[in-house]
Amino acid sequence: MSARVDPAQPIGLFDSGVGGLTVLRALRRRLPAESMIYLGDTARVPYGTKSPQSVLRYATQATDHLVARGIKLLVVACNTASALSIEPLRERFDPLPVIGVVEPGAAAAVAASRRQRHLVLATESTVTHHAYARAIRALAPDAHVDEVACSLLVSLAEEGWSDGPIADAVAREYLDPVRARGSDAMPDSVVLGCTHFPLLAEPIRRAIGEGPTIVDSATTTAEEVATVLARMGLLRQSEQPGATTLLATDGAERFAKVGARFLGHPLSASDVEVVDL
Ligand code: DGL
Repeated sequence: MSARVDPAQPIGLFDSGVGGLTVLRALRRRLPAESMIYLGDTARVPYGTKSPQSVLRYATQATDHLVARGIKLLVVACNTASALSIEPLRERFDPLPVIGVVEPGAAAAVAASRRQRHLVLATESTVTHHAYARAIRALAPDAHVDEVACSLLVSLAEEGWSDGPIADAVAREYLDPVRARGSDAMPDSVVLGCTHFPLLAEPIRRAIGEGPTIVDSATTTAEEVATVLARMGLLRQSEQPGATTLLATDGAERFAKVGARFLGHPLSASDVEVVDL
């Protein structure tokens, strides 16, 4: 593949909405010379409560769109799509390198935990598929992994309500039962197993207490992308920063408003191109 692929080609990322921008941000920091195209499927968010067949169809359509724009590597910047569709995507789009967020997230959790007692917060689908439990146990076979579906946190993040009394109340509703089990059962790692959740890290921290380390997959995913591109000889060598293209399937204005909080810099609707998959 590397013979025909040009290192100047962009990296593609997709998520159901704005959550994957947390991964884009980490990638921008780790690989500033790379050009990146981010696609948020805002017309169909959330993915986490949809059937596996629908998620696979959406993920395939998003990848088709990014491939048509000439990407050299795909990051599935969505835990739900990573959990449900990473292998079919790898098969269908071979030899395109496809990197998900679950395995890098599991690696970060195992590295951060001393007692290997993990609590994974994720969408309903990611929890139902036990994607994190499997990925963590592949690295630490005796690990104890609890998984809690926190689908409402996705809506809060998409709404831009990621801090304040409502976010605190919802985080407590999900996490109070964990705290009620007592200190012996407390996890020492809390995995943000949904790319929307890093924005809710503060309410989650207040709800779970000071003890556990909060882990997300963005940094380790960016590291994995850098490793794979270097191995394939596909890193863009330039002093100039790469371009960032933002695509959404609906609502450029809303995407810009909420996305700015995820990216940490202002965005306007004209920075976002609306596309049909
Ligand atoms: N941000 C996605 C994830 O990491 C999906 C959230 C959703 O659309 O339900 O799972």
